[in-house]
Amino acid sequence: MSESVKNMFSVVAKKYDLLNALMSFGTHNSWRKKAVKLSGAKSGMSVLDCASGTGDFAIEFAKITGITGKVTAQDFCKEMLDYIKPKSQKQNFNIEVSVGDVMNLEFEDNTFDIASIGFGIRNVDDTVKGLTEMTRVVKNGGKIIILETGQPEGFFKYPFKLYSNIIIPLLGLIVAGNISAYQYFKDTASKFPYGENFVELLKKTGNVKTCRYYPQVFGVSYIYIGEVNK
Ligand SMILES: C[S@@+](CC[C@H](N)C(=O)[O-])C[C@H]1O[C@@H](n2cnc3c(N)ncnc32)[C@H](O)[C@@H]1O
Repeated sequence: MSESVKNMFSVVAKKYDLLNALMSFGTHNSWRKKAVKLSGAKSGMSVLDCASGTGDFAIEFAKITGITGKVTAQDFCKEMLDYIKPKSQKQNFNIEVSVGDVMNLEFEDNTFDIASIGFGIRNVDDTVKGLTEMTRVVKNGGKIIILETGQPEGFFKYPFKLYSNIIIPLLGLIVAGNISAYQYFKDTASKFPYGENFVELLKKTGNVKTCRYYPQVFGVSYIYIGEVNK
């Protein structure tokens, strides 16, 4: 599946940021900012942002880690990563890009203070393998931060289903001329574990003993903060 996922993102790369803003009514960056705040990132730290895409999560981290720190934006789709430089070059950010698969990271053990992944882990073929790799490259006592979709419960459940089954694929068709990529979004998001079920996957890495999580907007998305303890 990896190859088809990579191809799909290379096709929608140009319109990805616009679609993200439309699909989330402009809220998506506030989730990233909140996740960065909860991560405890500080000036001078080194962060690996996996499945970084067009780099919005990496850029939010770089605002905090500053010029004395470093953010590595990693993704297997170069066409997505190519948008990071134009977006960040006017700022004094220290962001490096790295093309590769989350399931086989090129970095040494215990390299980073934090590893993050935003709306990426549900696309990875083997979730536990991807998470295990991320924890491998984080120093003991560091953090793994995941921002991922959830499924709202209660009164918001059905309006959200309608929105993700109909409006999101339609937006994909109208804005990116690609309905299948956004049908894929709906299919993966509706099946992916969230809350305690996701924490169980994270604990299967064997490198995370405690994890806090924070549902956003009635559970549309979740922020997970895991402490790496090897
Ligand atoms: C929905 S985008 C998220 C991009 C960005 N993190 C954000 O918050 O907007 C998912 C990204 O995951 C990347 N991806 C999926 N599977 C991957 C893998 N196994 N290794 C590296 N990147 C992967 C895709 O190329 C794509 O850029």
